Amino acid sequence: MSDPLHNVFARDSLEAKDLAHMLHPATNLAELHRSGPVVHAKAEGAYVWDNHGNQYLEGMAGLWCAALGYGEEELARVAAEQMRRLSFSQIFAAKTHEPAVLLAEKLKAMMPFEAGRVFFAQGGSDANDTQVKLMWYYHNVIGKREKKKIIARRAGYHGTTALAGSLTGLPPFHAHFDLPLPNILHTDAPYYYRNALAGETEEGFSTRLAANLDDLIIAEGPETVAAFVAEPVPGVGGVLVPPDGYYEKIQAVLRRHGVFFIDDEVICGFGRTGNPFGAQTFDIAPTTMTVAKALSSAYLPISAVIVPEFMYEAFVPATEEVGTFGHGFTYSGHPVCAAVALRTLEIYEERDIFGHAARMARPFQARLRALAEHPLVGDARGVGLMGAVELVADKATKAPFPAQVGAAAYCAKRALAHGLIVRNLGENVALCPPLIIDEMQVDEIFAKLERALGDTLARTRRL
Ligand SMILES: Cc1ncc(COP(=O)(O)O)c(C=O)c1O
Repeated sequence: MSDPLHNVFARDSLEAKDLAHMLHPATNLAELHRSGPVVHAKAEGAYVWDNHGNQYLEGMAGLWCAALGYGEEELARVAAEQMRRLSFSQIFAAKTHEPAVLLAEKLKAMMPFEAGRVFFAQGGSDANDTQVKLMWYYHNVIGKREKKKIIARRAGYHGTTALAGSLTGLPPFHAHFDLPLPNILHTDAPYYYRNALAGETEEGFSTRLAANLDDLIIAEGPETVAAFVAEPVPGVGGVLVPPDGYYEKIQAVLRRHGVFFIDDEVICGFGRTGNPFGAQTFDIAPTTMTVAKALSSAYLPISAVIVPEFMYEAFVPATEEVGTFGHGFTYSGHPVCAAVALRTLEIYEERDIFGHAARMARPFQARLRALAEHPLVGDARGVGLMGAVELVADKATKAPFPAQVGAAAYCAKRALAHGLIVRNLGENVALCPPLIIDEMQVDEIFAKLERALGDTLARTRRL
């Protein structure tokens, strides 16, 4: 591909080499070739530095994951020690090792539901892929061979493997990939600001969405629907905090039709929403759960799928019959990742990180809500230490800016110029700082974001 940035970066710079060699995930590749990459060089606590020495406050915890911030010596020590003691061991074929066993035990003890077994994977996508496969496996072995469909939500994000990407309900993750795969359906997003009818209350909106879900299950046939999958708060879809009554009404429908609830806590898990799990914040009773990201505070890749004992009990005789439980990854329960994750969970307790995050959520949410007064902000929503502002051209009609304006993308760029990392998701600007953030850093986030919004307002007025 001809590279328009060819002359902008020195030939042997990292930027030029990146543009020559990398295929970036989840990136507008055409835009990347116009503006070039940002090279992160080091990070400490809640701050990141680029290769030119510029300092940024981390407003997104990396990709919603670096809960303990960066450069935690204790985790580096545990990783190095585990690499020296047992750098790798498998858990296939009846082998096991201490870090995986102890992590499974610890995770089970933390679960807000009757947890039976823990399966380890590397990230959120392969864990959610596993969720779907386990739903299929379970219903096959108990003789409900028709019960296979999974209902996800529009604007949901569950990853990008073929199955997890199918669960994801965002168009760029389907287009040209021949997704979604069969048996994966999508229902409404809990997106009150955009999708409520004129005059509709939050409760009324939730009632309508639950009725739509009920209609979908009935139309498909309840005997064909295995599970509903949801993030307690859809993150990548724009931090869509569910409206009043939403999960209560949705779960009543699921219970009525015998449909399981797969709770994707990849972002919400481990203190993000003000409680250990999003399930507790929103009164969700999961059947199974996915955790990743903050499980190791992003120090190493590890994720887990937690299933109830009744599912496991159905798997055991089936594997006797077919010879093996034919699912797993070389790096399932990798000892170094597991040891770091276990220590991460201990640190959360020792330092009361979840309590700290809940305390910081108060000033964070107050500052976030105050942005609703800004002329560009149609909606300012959030829970715990996550939030988003949705930018609009007209607050009264909620009309968005035309796509070519790219208001949220411009705002994110200006935030970066002011030393703050945020992320634009469509017309939303999202925040998800490390859980270790202090009150001065909360102030710093919003002071910088306000400057970026001011720049964006000035630009949109010039258009
Ligand atoms: C809710 C949720 N589920 C799953 C995933 C996919 O995780 P990964 O990128 O580790 O595969 C993500 C990633 O952002 C996520 O936010």
